[in-house]
Amino acid sequence: MKIVIIDCDVGVDDALALILAFHSSALEVKAVTGVNGNVPLDRVFENIQKVLSLLQPTNKPIIARGASSPLKGKAIHAHSVHGRTGLGEAKIELKDGEEWWTLSGGPAWELITSIAHQHPQQVTLIAVGPLTNLALGIQKDLDGMKHLKEIVIMGGAVRTRGNVTPHAEFNIYSDPVAAKMVFESGIPMTLVPLDVTHRVFLTPSLMEERVKPIGNTFSKFLMEATGYDTKARRFRNRETVFLHDPLAVGVVIDPTLVKNETLCLTVETDEGEHWGKLIEGKEGSQINVSLGVDAERFLELFVSRLR
Ligand code: BDR
Ligand code: CA
Repeated sequence: MKIVIIDCDVGVDDALALILAFHSSALEVKAVTGVNGNVPLDRVFENIQKVLSLLQPTNKPIIARGASSPLKGKAIHAHSVHGRTGLGEAKIELKDGEEWWTLSGGPAWELITSIAHQHPQQVTLIAVGPLTNLALGIQKDLDGMKHLKEIVIMGGAVRTRGNVTPHAEFNIYSDPVAAKMVFESGIPMTLVPLDVTHRVFLTPSLMEERVKPIGNTFSKFLMEATGYDTKARRFRNRETVFLHDPLAVGVVIDPTLVKNETLCLTVETDEGEHWGKLIEGKEGSQINVSLGVDAERFLELFVSRLR
């Protein structure tokens, strides 16, 4: 079993990534940490708790609040994709006195590094939001961060267009200075960029044929969160829904789902048109980057873990 920590900015696809992780016996999710991103930090933290109350995990993870703003630049959000609350159209009520987590008093970076110290070279950190908490860990306890076995990051657009600007992807664009620090840290990492996450998506036919028939809490949550209209047989405000963050979890569960190449990458941190762009070249940090994916096999895994 792999010990994992999930750092996220829940977010519809972050919520789906948590479901996939907690429903996978190959993973032991020790902690879930939150960072400003798709929605402001308070919402992210509430959403982590809501998703955990849906999941009701037998082994309660430790949760911690992280950074409420990036190291440099203004906090940006993605309400147009994830809705006002961050969970799309899904409504989950938190019940008084029911806690499916253990609350850490300290910040996210401290929880991450303390778990890494306790389990040296055994913990995989899955980062599916802006990289601010990871950069704070590097600034404050590099030794702790170096005790991580690996970091798997959903982020970046390497040989494809960005999704915030033509050059940059949301998680990197939100805090490029943090991303640069993480890339340059020398910690073993795998980057799961838009190049592959744009190939794994939900379609109306997949919802009809494979998701709706499951008919449980999780398939219902998926339909509500993604705004799937069962009568019209379409998502209300988009054609398809990308499974960015679940793919990063999928890569940890089964690394053979993707084909990786080692690339030299730098992050553009100068303000301007290219803010947050990943530049491939001869200089920069050597990063293991997923450039190919077996989309059908991943979708099979994802849908099967809704059960
Ligand atoms: C990434 O940005 C967020 O909106 C998603 O949750 C995902 O982590 C995709 O660019
Ligand atoms: Ca995310």
